[in-house]
Amino acid sequence: MTTLPLVRRILLQRPLADVFAYLRDFSTIAQWDPGVFDATKVTPGPADAGSQFALTLNVLGRAVPMQYTLIRCESPDAGGVATLVLDGRGEGFSALDTLRLSADGEGSTWLDYRADLQLGDVPGWLLPGLRAWGRRLADQAMAGLQRALCEDGPESVSVLGRVSERLVLPGMLNYTRRGYRQQHSRGLSRRLDGRTVGITGITSGLGQAAALELARLGATLVLVGRDRTRLEACVEDLRARSGSAAAMRVHEAELSSLASTRDLVERLRRDEPALDVWINNAGALFNDHALTAEGHERSLAVNFLSPALLSQALAPALAARRGRLIQVVSGGLYTQPVRLDDINYTTEPYNGPKAYARAKRALLDLTQRLAADPALAGLGCHVMHPGWAATPGVASALPGFNQRLGERLRTPRMGADTMVWLASHPALDDPALSGRFWFDRAPRPTALLPGTASNAATVDALLARVANLSAA
Ligand SMILES: NC(=O)c1ccc[n+]([C@@H]2O[C@H](COP(=O)([O-])OP(=O)(O)OC[C@H]3O[C@@H](n4cnc5c(N)ncnc54)[C@H](OP(=O)(O)O)[C@@H]3O)[C@@H](O)[C@H]2O)c1
Repeated sequence: MTTLPLVRRILLQRPLADVFAYLRDFSTIAQWDPGVFDATKVTPGPADAGSQFALTLNVLGRAVPMQYTLIRCESPDAGGVATLVLDGRGEGFSALDTLRLSADGEGSTWLDYRADLQLGDVPGWLLPGLRAWGRRLADQAMAGLQRALCEDGPESVSVLGRVSERLVLPGMLNYTRRGYRQQHSRGLSRRLDGRTVGITGITSGLGQAAALELARLGATLVLVGRDRTRLEACVEDLRARSGSAAAMRVHEAELSSLASTRDLVERLRRDEPALDVWINNAGALFNDHALTAEGHERSLAVNFLSPALLSQALAPALAARRGRLIQVVSGGLYTQPVRLDDINYTTEPYNGPKAYARAKRALLDLTQRLAADPALAGLGCHVMHPGWAATPGVASALPGFNQRLGERLRTPRMGADTMVWLASHPALDDPALSGRFWFDRAPRPTALLPGTASNAATVDALLARVANLSAA
């Protein structure tokens, strides 16, 4: 048996309570250790002694499973010290990780980290290389943790990144998980205790992943879906996986119906007066043309009219609380203009991705107008796109694309990253950042191809259309 001890000491510019809350749920390791592809908490309830975590390690690009058990979880004591000890088991190897946290007075925390890796018998000549590999992994993990906790503000895009983005197709290569992994920081550690976040479309895909992260961060949740039984099952799952004791309230709404959306607005105004963040995440791509019972093209109704109506209705109350409005759109909008002359897509053969992209662009336009409205000063308006993530929505609407990209698609957690970051990071309180279009935590251009940007008259017409729907 060969033992490889790794010891590191780093100073984190965050209070002890924050660092402890972030690390005790060890599933966050996937956000800071490049040696880990993914991690989930498998035991229900708050992370505590006995909690188990399933990790997928990244061993030279190969996915290797490993199970961790939190065997000691000592909360910060009066002397400002907390300890976490984790026992990790894989096939033919194990690890004992000890994380000792001590407060450093001025809102910072020392982390003394020790990992004892146990490997099978390793030939002597291999040991120096193995030690160097282990040291590199430990350095990368500690640097990742520094970034996740301390350097997690907006990302900057390199000149090369900007050029490939302008060329549209090369930029789209970053819509895969490769782009997510290139982010400087992937940490979601800014607590939301005492804040209320509403989100639509939480029964599947990105919405479900975002709700889990928001629950882990302690937010009170207002969850919208179209089926009460499924919503309640989601709440049960969120509670078990996040261990959050914060309130989670559910509201049913069929968002292709504007009558149902208006009814949701009424309920939210009555029952949820303290919303701090609203996320319009629900969306869908349809491959066939259909009009709703109210006479709107289905994709337009779900991806633009309904979230626009919710946005206009909730914006004043959100602004009064200096809250945030977040729209989930799609990088596909780069390919399409808004078509006011054929908003219901009736004069040309129906193309689902085009209809979807036009509706998402309309939502981007409307949100930028809200961001510029002086009557809504204080409201942070943020539009984001998630890249390409493997979700039930993508699998059913775009099966060929889903199959072709396979493992290169982001996980739902990766796709939801920027959404949760926009909802939680204090940097987004800066009014100068309102009205931006975000991808992978960096502001991006809103139009790349000639003829796709909307002019002021088009945006005026979109706003008037939504105002009419609100009054209907
Ligand atoms: N995944 C990607 O690669 C990708 C890329 C770009 C943009 N997006 C956007 O990301 C958001 C989430 O998509 P996803 O990939 O997570 O899709 P998903 O797995 O299909 O989830 C969509 C969610 O929206 C809800 N929803 C859809 N239509 C609704 C309606 N008429 N009324 C109420 N709720 C409705 C769904 O509810 P049910 O469970 O009841 O169906 C589900 O909870 C969407 O806005 C999508 O356009 C995704």
